[in-house]
Amino acid sequence: MAMSEIISLSPGSGRRVPPRARVATTAPQLDLSGTWRFRFSPRPPAPGEGVAAVEFDDSAWDDIEVPAHWVLQGRPEWGQPIYTNVSYPFPMDAPHVPDDNPTGDYRVTFELSDEMLDHQLYLRFDGVESVAIASLNGTRVGVVRGSRLAQELDITSEARPGRNVLHVRVHQWSAATYLENQDQWWLPGIFRAVTLISRPEHGIEDVWLRADYDTVAERGRLLPEVRATESAFPITVRLEELGVEQTFASSREVGPIDVGPVEPWSADVPRLYRAEVTNAVETLDLRVGFRRVEIVGHEWRVNGRKLRLRGVNKHEYDPDHGRVFDREQTREAMLLMKRSNINAIRTSHYPPHPEFFDLADELGFWVINEGDLETHGFVYDNWVGNPSDDPLWRDSYLDRVERQFERDKNHPCIVSWSLGNESGSGENLAAMAAWLKARDPERPVHYESDYEGRYSDIVSRMYSTLEQLRAMSAGLGQNDIATPGRTAKLAQRPMILCEYLHAMGNGAGAVADYEELFDTLPQWHGGFVWEWRDHGLRTSTQNGQEFYGYGGDFGEELHDGSFVCDGMVLSDFTPTPMLTEYAAVVTPIKLRVKDGRLEVDNRRHAGDTADLRFRWRDELDGREVASGKLDVPPVPAGEQRTVPLPGFTRPDQGELWRTFECVSARDEPWAVAGHVVSSTQQLLQDNPTPLGRAAVGETPDLVEGAWVLGDARFDAVSGDLIQLGSVQMAGPHLELFRAPTENDSLSAFPSYVDAEPSTHPNGGKPAPSWDEQWRQVGLDRLHRRVISVTAGPGLLTVRHRYAPAAISQAVTVELTWSLGEEGLRMSATAVPSENWPGTWARIGLRFDLPAGLTQAAWFGTGPSDNYADSAIAARVGRYESAIEDLITQYAVPQESGHRGGMRELRLPELGLEMRAFKAGGERPGFTLRAHSVPEVAEARHPHELPPSKATYLWLDVQQQGLGSRSCGPDVRPEYMLRPRMAQWALEFRTGEPRPSL
Ligand code: GAL
Repeated sequence: MAMSEIISLSPGSGRRVPPRARVATTAPQLDLSGTWRFRFSPRPPAPGEGVAAVEFDDSAWDDIEVPAHWVLQGRPEWGQPIYTNVSYPFPMDAPHVPDDNPTGDYRVTFELSDEMLDHQLYLRFDGVESVAIASLNGTRVGVVRGSRLAQELDITSEARPGRNVLHVRVHQWSAATYLENQDQWWLPGIFRAVTLISRPEHGIEDVWLRADYDTVAERGRLLPEVRATESAFPITVRLEELGVEQTFASSREVGPIDVGPVEPWSADVPRLYRAEVTNAVETLDLRVGFRRVEIVGHEWRVNGRKLRLRGVNKHEYDPDHGRVFDREQTREAMLLMKRSNINAIRTSHYPPHPEFFDLADELGFWVINEGDLETHGFVYDNWVGNPSDDPLWRDSYLDRVERQFERDKNHPCIVSWSLGNESGSGENLAAMAAWLKARDPERPVHYESDYEGRYSDIVSRMYSTLEQLRAMSAGLGQNDIATPGRTAKLAQRPMILCEYLHAMGNGAGAVADYEELFDTLPQWHGGFVWEWRDHGLRTSTQNGQEFYGYGGDFGEELHDGSFVCDGMVLSDFTPTPMLTEYAAVVTPIKLRVKDGRLEVDNRRHAGDTADLRFRWRDELDGREVASGKLDVPPVPAGEQRTVPLPGFTRPDQGELWRTFECVSARDEPWAVAGHVVSSTQQLLQDNPTPLGRAAVGETPDLVEGAWVLGDARFDAVSGDLIQLGSVQMAGPHLELFRAPTENDSLSAFPSYVDAEPSTHPNGGKPAPSWDEQWRQVGLDRLHRRVISVTAGPGLLTVRHRYAPAAISQAVTVELTWSLGEEGLRMSATAVPSENWPGTWARIGLRFDLPAGLTQAAWFGTGPSDNYADSAIAARVGRYESAIEDLITQYAVPQESGHRGGMRELRLPELGLEMRAFKAGGERPGFTLRAHSVPEVAEARHPHELPPSKATYLWLDVQQQGLGSRSCGPDVRPEYMLRPRMAQWALEFRTGEPRPSL
């Protein structure tokens, strides 16, 4: 019996109740969440034990909390989480699954009051992975499939007064698993609530309050749909705030209600009205948002205005509890999104907990609600046997879309239904789309893999290149995945990137380049970053060191490593620099200095700028010299205004920057007043203080095996600076390699290195990863040879040759040390020999400083790190930080912390100050870190980094950009670092060391 339930292709079975909306009701409910009895079995237990019987003795069982995943209970004997991306974690043998099918038996006892027993009684399961067989008081009441979908079972005839015993058997694997192959952890168990629902005899079974908004008349209209027996009438719909009350005497009377003038709902102004649907026995409580979703030509519009999606893909996740919903945490995440100018969420790749949509309605997000469907593993067999095109699975597909839609249909935030993700193509998907269109004529159907646009309404792609975006917009086929000829048709439809900018590790770069195309190509509506958050699971090493584990950390036989950590927010909820970059780029308030005025461009969907304040400040060499407020009249959505710029007095010397900021004027649910929504900088004067005068006279002396110049000592043989004042150091050393980012070390996507971006459908041409290419030419293993160390009048000149073993290409570095009136000067050049292939990771000089430094202050760019293709958020200014915080603790240690355009750097604990000059050099970026490149490159987790041996300072004249190649386009050619010459002009000063800044 159990076996057939495991391999059944059908939807759930037994006493299933038709799906309906999740709305608050006055009908009594009993939340069965809490401590249940639990028994884990590594494979389905033999039948005949009678575990469902009331009298079964479960005293030998364990306790477990419901909801929870049994593999996250700190009980390794109950199995472990498994992470795979595309692969199924068991043989491809649909609908079969292995005999070793972890099984959880759950039992709970509850009391039923007489009040409840008067009614029909249902048991609602909100989420169980992957199949649940439920019995009440020893009798089977149904089988639940569709892990992230709600299902109600009718238990009226089994429920008894007083004590009732519910038994639920959950198998981790089932035929349904073949439909749930999302790139995520496999986490079995009852992970959402189980609720007992009583349904009054004449209750209102279901309601859909479609709320339309007429933008011309500025009026709202309700299009109610009510499911109830005739005996449930009269039924009244009431919107008190609008003075609307309409009673329908019978089902035939149910029809549109004109509610008069209303404020529309949008993600920017999420205006909700409270509605009641009520009759003699029950009142349903809903929140209604009036809005109209439509596709007009190639525009996807809400309330008559084209949508612009500044989105993220969001999984349900918590580092300790997996997909168990936590309202407060979800809200916190959504507030951070709002603070980061994110206005759209794709619920990748399943309908989340229903309360997520309440939050999205209330805070304001455009949401694509995605179905619980992914069969990606079939791609390895060229989609042979894909359930999406097999009539045997059709009912199951239709059942999924029906339950997805019916549960969530009332939410104004949902502006599209997505069938699922990466499930190939086929008739069952077409049937789902047809079902949705018949049921909801308004909201468009999304499904990325319908490349030809056969049954979906929105042209959706993933990780496309900029060239592809342009070609698709022009209706040209050569750069798209659709069959030639089809693209011209598709260009008449709205387009989105349902995934782009793969935020794995450090990256993705080129956020601003996409923004520019979304701003200019008419069919494009924006996209959704892959993805919101890393999904490491908190675990610990054998000796108790806590860390966030990813694929392979739980003994999986097959896994996809750190691919489960590709978010803009780390597992511990720390935002990464990419989130800062994304917020700066996608801000809907664009500030631009144009023709001597400041232009304020309000690209919000709705709402003027009356909720914002505008301010400016001038900083001379990073120190504020003036500031003020700007009087900007409210700019309506979709419009621009310009205002005059404040005047300023031109100083004789220095770099004068003006920063404009647009901040929230009042406290918002997501931010306090003063939160920066947008900013821009203008360089008013670029007359940096030049290098001071050279000191005359002093010629280096050779003292005890070292050249001495002022208070600096240089190794007599290597010419390395080994001491400055009281500071011990070593260097500089040329570095061309960096600890590879995950975008450097993965190469599923082609490269632009020897190809034009437009030469391949995915850009560039196949090539090994950057990490491999760089190691191939030996950037990670440079040998140094001292060419000469020469002392002359007032100068020490050091020449080094750097080259990898077996390779003839080299870089010659010439360092000239001298004394200025204010300190020690270094002027350096690095000149490559000819024929270096490919690119370099960096061109930098490394100084090894004492271990354990904790503080830094600088005048340069910040506050976040920045790279060639990720520097829109960076502002020139003075900053200070703990050295530890200069680096982002990605799930896998990698390059991090480069801040371009250094002018000054101060290390107070050493009393050391450095200045970099443009004249005679290039302003380098700096990186300070407690670990060397090989140490970082070696470690797979932060806790594997060895004890620090030094504080390393890199001064990189250039680093290669970041790109998105871990799953997307390569670093664009304009952001690559082609082997080239570099120059530095630095001055070092020492003073009294200070413990802190
Ligand atoms: C997409 C997929 C996502 C995720 C991403 C890579 O193809 O839809 O679920 O796997 O790639 O991280």
